[in-house]
Amino acid sequence: MHKGLLFDLDGVIVDTARYHYLAWKELAQELGIPFTREDNERLKGVSRNRSFEIILEIGNRQMEEAQKEYYCTRKNGIYLEYLQTLSEKDILPGVQEFLEAARAKGYRTALGSASKNAVFILEKLKLSESFDAVIDGNKVSKAKPDPEVFLNGAAALGLAGCDCIVFEDAAAGIKAAHAGGMRAVGIGKPEILSEADYVIRGFEKITIEEIEQEIM
Ligand code: G6P
Ligand code: MG
Repeated sequence: MHKGLLFDLDGVIVDTARYHYLAWKELAQELGIPFTREDNERLKGVSRNRSFEIILEIGNRQMEEAQKEYYCTRKNGIYLEYLQTLSEKDILPGVQEFLEAARAKGYRTALGSASKNAVFILEKLKLSESFDAVIDGNKVSKAKPDPEVFLNGAAALGLAGCDCIVFEDAAAGIKAAHAGGMRAVGIGKPEILSEADYVIRGFEKITIEEIEQEIM
């Protein structure tokens, strides 16, 4: 019986993944680097700095560290502009209901995200109270597919990895969950999340009972 649920943030709880894409796209365009939605899949679950390095790799470009830092800061500025109007209305369909039902059943919940903006986003969504622990990009040193963020999440709940189920929209996050000995539910397209133990399009009409049954 699983006791803990670990949630990625961007693309699972809220559709900020498209704002990350739009912000990176704007910078890539400025730098004359072609950057498609398909390329963007490689950035999901990946830290801000590493994301920019991947974009530079796509453009076959090199840059000094200080300049990389400058662009990452600018990207975050553009991204935060998009988040200005973020509110409870932006929580993805079914997420709140799913969290409430799972917690009522005794599950403990943690957020496991590479984002350094996670606490700010949860506050904007008024979801801070829905998680017993938050592990974000400020608390980890190794990015997904390393399991650090989820192992820390499980530990913060007082649980072992094998007691937890991870919910992820990124292929790197599914790998991280498995590396931590956890079962993984993919949120999105089965083609992209082929390694997940079970794939759902989103939380709408999804019950914790269905997940328990499919994941056991
Ligand atoms: C998440 C997203 C990535 C993003 C990373 C860092 O994992 O999926 O696309 O790059 O967080 O986010 P941040 O808000 O710190 O730039
Ligand atoms: Mg994500």
